[in-house]
Amino acid sequence: MTKNTHLEPTRRGFITNLTPSRRGFITNYPNFQHWKQATDAKLLAAKPLNIYVHIPFCAQQCSYCYYRTVTGSRKSEIDIYVEALCKEIEIATKKFRLNERPVVSIYFGGGTPTLLDGTNLAKIIDTIRNNLNVIEGAEFTVEGEPVTLIQKKANILKDIGVNRISLGVQSLYDDVIKLSNRQDTEKKVLKAIDFARNTGAIVNIDLMSGLAGETPKTWAYSVKRAIETEVESITVYKMELYANTQYYKDVRNKTIDLPSDEQELEFMQHAMEKFEQSEYEPWCFFTFTKKGKFVHVHAPSIWRGDDYYPFGASAFGRLGDWVFQSTNEVNKYVSIVEKGELPISRGHNMTSLDKMIRDIVLGMKLIRLDLKMFKSRYGFKLSSFCEEVMQQLESDGFITFNEEEVVLTKKGMLHGDFVGKSLSKPLMNMY
Ligand SMILES: C[S@@+](CC[C@H](N)C(=O)[O-])C[C@H]1O[C@@H](n2cnc3c(N)ncnc32)[C@H](O)[C@@H]1O
Repeated sequence: MTKNTHLEPTRRGFITNLTPSRRGFITNYPNFQHWKQATDAKLLAAKPLNIYVHIPFCAQQCSYCYYRTVTGSRKSEIDIYVEALCKEIEIATKKFRLNERPVVSIYFGGGTPTLLDGTNLAKIIDTIRNNLNVIEGAEFTVEGEPVTLIQKKANILKDIGVNRISLGVQSLYDDVIKLSNRQDTEKKVLKAIDFARNTGAIVNIDLMSGLAGETPKTWAYSVKRAIETEVESITVYKMELYANTQYYKDVRNKTIDLPSDEQELEFMQHAMEKFEQSEYEPWCFFTFTKKGKFVHVHAPSIWRGDDYYPFGASAFGRLGDWVFQSTNEVNKYVSIVEKGELPISRGHNMTSLDKMIRDIVLGMKLIRLDLKMFKSRYGFKLSSFCEEVMQQLESDGFITFNEEEVVLTKKGMLHGDFVGKSLSKPLMNMY
């Protein structure tokens, strides 16, 4: 009999001799000989959990913002929402036995969480701590808008144990800020950053490249001023234009000009040079921290595939193989939760292929994609599917790679998700 080499191997045993026969009944896969020592403790090991809490309220609708936010809410409306949020935390914790898992990070995002008053902020975090198993030293991040971060609010954040504050700054150039319909000014922003830093929390500021009215001069100013604040972390988002924004209408009506993609790329290039000179190093392709320290727990954990439970209207998250999202409408959300039900409105049960692609596209955001982790999760080398793409990306200067990892070069970082998308393309073709 000739040896059929491509059917030969498998290190899991027994699928070796494929001559037609009724012999060789398969009992299990992989073969017992490949099983390693296990204990009930190993089987029961609780997986870490991250918590996301969505606060949809904002002081104003920013011209570039495509998120579903609610402006002009009365205090009573916000109180009702917070009441429902706390109820949702209780219901979901019981239903999914979330309290059996160690909570490693909590993220209040929005919208503008710093718009909430102290009573409401304390109420939400107390409900989380009373229901869930928040580990000692867990990361607790709150997003905010500078104009809402007065001294009193900063004291509240400190009192409730916030250890990271992420401020949406976007620009430090007053004319650019004004064009985006925000109430901040450079002066107010710098003051808010001081308040945030004095709480002792790690502070991140978001900048946006590609805002209306941005020129090389205004951008250079913003980047310089951002670095001079000496915050621990600076994030730069490329402004994405969406049809539901004021910017979109203004561009169509020709009342504003946006920088071209080429200009925006130059802005990012400039920022990266300045960050490097000031020892701000990237831990993902859009966040730069002092000497590469102060790495966020929440985002990398999610990008590596850990679970995160989403609380609040329109919040989305992941439990095991399911990704899911709650209803968008605040009033609908409140009425569902008030009835004692969960507000989950849509979801997707991930296939193995979905998870592989997710691990590539989200994992690549962290600059280094761990190929060993990929192989231990899925049982095969990523390169067995995309060796050609990897070689092409390397020769085009986007990545370097070896047996252990794929690493974005500066050019790779500048092009954002391009490498992640390119590496996952051969897998996408298998759908
Ligand atoms: C959901 S917002 C919340 C921040 C906060 N409410 C504020 O006042 O800035 C979080 C971040 O998303 C980014 N963002 C908002 N709209 C964007 C867009 N159209 N394109 C890219 N990033 C955007 C901004 O940098 C912002 O700081």
